[in-house]
Amino acid sequence: MASKTRRIGLSLGADICWPVCYEALLKQLDLKLRLGRDTVSFEVERVGIEPFDLRQPCSYDVVIDRLTHWYHTSREWIKKAILTDDLYVYNNPWSLQSMEKHTSYAAMMRLGFPVPDTWLIPPKAYDESPDLQATLEKYAKLFDLGEIGDRIGYPLFMKPYDGGAWVGVTAIHDREALLEAYDSSGKRVMHLQQGVQPFDWFVRCIGLGPQWRFVNYDPSAPLHDRYCMDRDFLSTGDEITLSNMTMVINAFFGWDFNSCEALRSNGVWRPIDFANACPDSQVTSLHYHFPWLIKANLKWSIYCAATDRSMHANLDWQRFFDIAAEDRSFDDKLERYAKIALEHFEAEQFEEFCDKHLGHLDEVAHEFFGSDVVMDAIRQKVEALYPAHEVDEFSELFWERIQSWRRDSSD
Ligand SMILES: Nc1ncnc2c1ncn2[C@@H]1O[C@H](COP(=O)(O)OP(=O)(O)O)[C@@H](O)[C@H]1O
Ligand SMILES: [Mg+2]
Repeated sequence: MASKTRRIGLSLGADICWPVCYEALLKQLDLKLRLGRDTVSFEVERVGIEPFDLRQPCSYDVVIDRLTHWYHTSREWIKKAILTDDLYVYNNPWSLQSMEKHTSYAAMMRLGFPVPDTWLIPPKAYDESPDLQATLEKYAKLFDLGEIGDRIGYPLFMKPYDGGAWVGVTAIHDREALLEAYDSSGKRVMHLQQGVQPFDWFVRCIGLGPQWRFVNYDPSAPLHDRYCMDRDFLSTGDEITLSNMTMVINAFFGWDFNSCEALRSNGVWRPIDFANACPDSQVTSLHYHFPWLIKANLKWSIYCAATDRSMHANLDWQRFFDIAAEDRSFDDKLERYAKIALEHFEAEQFEEFCDKHLGHLDEVAHEFFGSDVVMDAIRQKVEALYPAHEVDEFSELFWERIQSWRRDSSD
């Protein structure tokens, strides 16, 4: 019988609220899991940024990464640690580095997902380079943007092929506006995508390992009200479709944590944005759903650390493509893809593990989310984002929403 400690690293950028809650709740859980002949406990530490020897060992078993989609030193350290020390990281850094939103559209189209019609157009402007003129003169074909717009139909959305955070997204209602938007799009490579309109539901399905949460999303509301607080607002059929889509996308790309946006129009769920490397985890957006995220993150990271989960750094797409080639309906195929996805995420083993070892989490979390630690974490985040005269009001608002979560059901 041996005592072992599994170390979880948090690779963070501007995050404030969720790491405070994650660390405090892990400490309160005070886990000492009996796994085989071992007693396993857990430590969490924030990963620092420093020079590193490529041969130096890594002291973490799992890293939850929120930084490396833009901070390359940490990304290269993480890649090294996976290759040399079997570190488990979410999300997969290679996959994040190379899979743009564009790739995710193309791949899901091949699997039969009803992604709205989407075109990629060459940019309006370029950085000068020695070969630029020769290349463009020889190969860049003149195109009629207005005609492409007509083929897609209006409204359509112009948005960066690798977008995020609503940057550079324009809703376009006619040919003239399209030409104008393109003329001012500069060097960015853009998609034109058929607008899903009208739609009756806009849902963000947050996936974390084999766990998911449906959030009714109101894109027209101010930031603090975009994640609505509805529960059980979808039919079972809709829930199955959305959770299956989310699990499949995540397993396909090796993303453990991702938020998939889909709009329902004429009874069909149309996925529009599902390559979110670093999903919103802030209490100032998630509020009511924030405790779910902390619990889901704890459960999945503890499971991965405790069971020494393999990183699956190489993606295996052929299994999905084989199903895509079968002569079946999309619903049938989705069910089959989802089976692979849930196996990838070890859904059954995970559930058993949580039942056996983390049965007290709900109760501890219920208590915890009524504590001063949480109140303080909310305030710190609000202070970082809001002007001084709004800090009291918004800290109170987010706190109250978390208290509603505690009153409702705590899941
Ligand atoms: N095809 C579409 N149909 C309807 N609304 C869309 C469509 N594409 C984008 N939008 C709107 O624009 C917002 C930002 O676009 P999105 O693709 O999510 O980009 P980002 O990656 O920047 O979040 C969406 O949340 C949605 O409100
Ligand atoms: Mg989006």
